Amino acid sequence: MKIVLLGYMASGKSSIGKKLAKKLNLPFKDLDELISEKEESSIPEIFKNKGEIYFRKIESEVLQKFLENEHNFVLAVGGGTPCYGNNLDYINKNTTSVYLKASIKTIYKNLSKVKNKDKRPLVSKVKSEDLQEFIAKHLFERRPFYEKAHLTIDIDHKTQKEIAQEISLNMR
Ligand code: S3P
Repeated sequence: MKIVLLGYMASGKSSIGKKLAKKLNLPFKDLDELISEKEESSIPEIFKNKGEIYFRKIESEVLQKFLENEHNFVLAVGGGTPCYGNNLDYINKNTTSVYLKASIKTIYKNLSKVKNKDKRPLVSKVKSEDLQEFIAKHLFERRPFYEKAHLTIDIDHKTQKEIAQEISLNMR
């Protein structure tokens, strides 16, 4: 079984992915972690030292290599992964993709938590008072990609446990 979780930053892809993987007895992987391991550098450092274009190139390479070689997994990809190159086609041809659909309000609430700020280079410099508008515009651009996932799960007002349960029921 091959499952890819996608959705905007801070929608809980990794935490929900871990719970789902446990439930389905599958290994869990996080694409950002695979990229960091390959580059021996954190995601913010890659953005800072090499730039976003370089990051997107490596992101595609690591994704394709992973999907070519692995046969059983839950993979959480980055918020931008489905929106660049042929990543989304590649994901949809080779796996069951699941969009964790969160409202602007939920994303805003999750992203505003201080501990999340520094590890996300795309929002680390956005002022708090501009964050909601930034998310609204960015999500407007990205939603058409996310909506091409095989399955969409609304995650507002649900616990991560409930979301993992809902996804697993759809995988039968
Ligand atoms: C990004 C999301 C991040 C990470 C990178 C770029 C994006 O992953 O891949 O900072 O373009 O939305 P998360 O969605 O796990 O935060």
